[in-house]
Amino acid sequence: MKLANFLVTFLLQVCFLWSGALAQQPEIVNNIKTFQDCPVDLFFVLDTSESVALREKPFGDVVSQVKDFTKRFIDKLTERYYRCDRNLVWNAGALHYSDDVVLIKGLERMPAGRADLKDRVSAVNYIGKGTHTDCAIKRGIEELLITGSHQKENKYLIVVTDGHPLEGYKEPCGGLEDAANEPKHLGIKVFSVAISPGQLEPRMSIIATDPSYRRNFTATGKTVDIDYTIETIIDMIKKNMEPMCCSYECKVSGALPALH
Ligand SMILES: *[C@@H]1O[C@H](CO)[C@@H](O)[C@H](O)[C@H]1NC(C)=O
Repeated sequence: MKLANFLVTFLLQVCFLWSGALAQQPEIVNNIKTFQDCPVDLFFVLDTSESVALREKPFGDVVSQVKDFTKRFIDKLTERYYRCDRNLVWNAGALHYSDDVVLIKGLERMPAGRADLKDRVSAVNYIGKGTHTDCAIKRGIEELLITGSHQKENKYLIVVTDGHPLEGYKEPCGGLEDAANEPKHLGIKVFSVAISPGQLEPRMSIIATDPSYRRNFTATGKTVDIDYTIETIIDMIKKNMEPMCCSYECKVSGALPALH
């Protein structure tokens, strides 16, 4: 106990002195890769159910567009340097679902895992059949919690769906509302992206963390609207993450294990 107290005090002092040194000698410290990366965990939940796949002929074409959207998004997951001397880095993964949930790939660090994740997204075949968005969201949360980084506040789901089914349809994992509440309790943020604009808006809104996580995001349609969706979401995450990434220099996992 005494030793632990001493260690905590000692480490706090090291932190304090270190930040003092930082303030005084930025030009020296800039050359030293001292701080760890600040990871964000991002997981895609893609609806490939019948209502999506069979919406337009040729069947499956909308699913191809959702796949294109996802790959375009993955390409934009690039590091971001914060002035606090930390880099935002991305872990990304994906699943797709109908009345079945199929893992495309668990979370992997970008850019190393980028090519494989995109290949696997390309290889997705639509499942058709029903839409169990509740089960898919819960599985996405599981993936974020099991394979993600240690921080809780850096986890994001991107749910791409048409919002089906309508009320009354049997949802076996507790229903959409219940599934949407779970990430809220866990501090996980959820973006709700419509497969095309103007769809079952009330259902789309239930999924999103708050209205700014829904807006008018769309995965298909005009390129300018798709890019707006991707850029706005990435921008929101980068802004969200900055205070957090820059506040735990002294609590980085791995550097100071198990002291709290
Ligand atoms: C969504 O809103 C933005 C900003 O107001 C706008 O530029 C964009 O065209 C809109 N997208 C759709 C699909 O309506």
